Amino acid sequence: MTEWQKSGWRAKPRVQMPDYTDTAKLEAVEAQLSKYPPLVFAGEARKLKKELGAASRGEAFLLQGGDCAEAFDQFSANGIRDTFKVMLQMAMVLTFGAKVPVVKVGRMAGQFAKPRSAPTEVVNGVELPSYRGDIINDLPFTPEARIPDPAKMLQAYTQAAATLNLLRAFSTGGYADVHQVHQWTLGFTDREESEKYRDMANRISDTLDFIKAAGVDSDRAHTLQTVDFYTSHESLLLEYEEALTRQDSTSGKWLAGSGHMIWIGDRTRQPDGAHVEFARGVLNPVGLKCGPTTTPEDLKVLMAKLNPENEAGKLTLIARFGAGKVNEHLPRLIKTVAEEGANVTWVCDPMHGNTIKSSTGYKTRPFEAVLREVKEFFAVHNAEGTVPGGVHFEMTGQDVTECTGGVRAVSEENLSDRYHTACDPRLNASQSLELAFLVAEELTARREAQLAAKAG
Ligand code: PEP
Ligand code: CO
Repeated sequence: MTEWQKSGWRAKPRVQMPDYTDTAKLEAVEAQLSKYPPLVFAGEARKLKKELGAASRGEAFLLQGGDCAEAFDQFSANGIRDTFKVMLQMAMVLTFGAKVPVVKVGRMAGQFAKPRSAPTEVVNGVELPSYRGDIINDLPFTPEARIPDPAKMLQAYTQAAATLNLLRAFSTGGYADVHQVHQWTLGFTDREESEKYRDMANRISDTLDFIKAAGVDSDRAHTLQTVDFYTSHESLLLEYEEALTRQDSTSGKWLAGSGHMIWIGDRTRQPDGAHVEFARGVLNPVGLKCGPTTTPEDLKVLMAKLNPENEAGKLTLIARFGAGKVNEHLPRLIKTVAEEGANVTWVCDPMHGNTIKSSTGYKTRPFEAVLREVKEFFAVHNAEGTVPGGVHFEMTGQDVTECTGGVRAVSEENLSDRYHTACDPRLNASQSLELAFLVAEELTARREAQLAAKAG
């Protein structure tokens, strides 16, 4: 393989990227972004890689979640806080079930560019280029809005920087202190899952009181007062990614400075394509979406390219087959991984294979299908003796009505009430927490079966 360069992707076939017409403006934006500080640091990306390595062995569990697409007009401190808060709650529930640390990674501070199933969209006989995310063009259905504008990369950078700044403050400034576990219940009163959550919070409080009474040293207490929260996004707009790539002064390796973890989408994982070429050279942990069309041959090449040193935690395979299809596809890919002796972290994305159009015309995902795919993912790993390393959700801390079902059932008729996503339907706060409890049940059952096997 030739030596990697951050601009090497430009010589490869590209898909799902805009054709900028104003190249002078594009170059000016790239030059400007190249001078800006990176958003993350190499040491952080390495730490996340190590934690994902632990997840690959069942010694940790990944919770990755956030918007399908971050949007400029939905940017607010409260929005970030609420998604962060729900992720903390979910992480707490999962830690309780798994009895291992939960690695928290947001689809945040950079999740702006979207692959689309069709390059154009037709409404009432009018055809326009598809919306590709706020970093590229605009959502309104007008010819002007759909022209890709390079300057939007600068606004995306600014929003990502401000988002990450707030996330860092929430993570270490006291908000994420586990002693606040009861405070995080605010906004969840009088619901069934909030009762379950409060029970668990009470048990955690009791345990904390016990630890304190037993005189556990205060150095250790620090780990209960802060969390590590990482960022991730699909590495789709490669001009933006390249402009934020920096050489790490200590190792000489290259860092994608746009986020801690980047992933390659199901539509851009061509082994000889531009997106794989970019991702293969950075030191960050990399995710790879695996769908029904992922072949063993491609997966072999992709694993070799994306994790040439076969490091634990470097490559996360994000399975997104759809409920009812996991049994057909996951075992064959697990076999390929085993044949190659590859180190991978298996994660379940139960969102992207379960998108349907509702009778009322909205794109939605039935909660029941999301849950079923998670259960199938666990069942296959339990049967194969491999490790379910985490989950990947499109979710928000807001009380939206985008996915149907859940204990506070959202019906097809309700979808129009608060349907705010700029792209795919997200789980709302209540559905997210409910799902976390159900995943925790799977983790508990798995752990109990393992303990019983050891004892027996
Ligand atoms: C996504 O994660 O938003 C996405 C587009 O996923 P996929 O590439 O798996 O379809
Ligand atoms: Co999506």
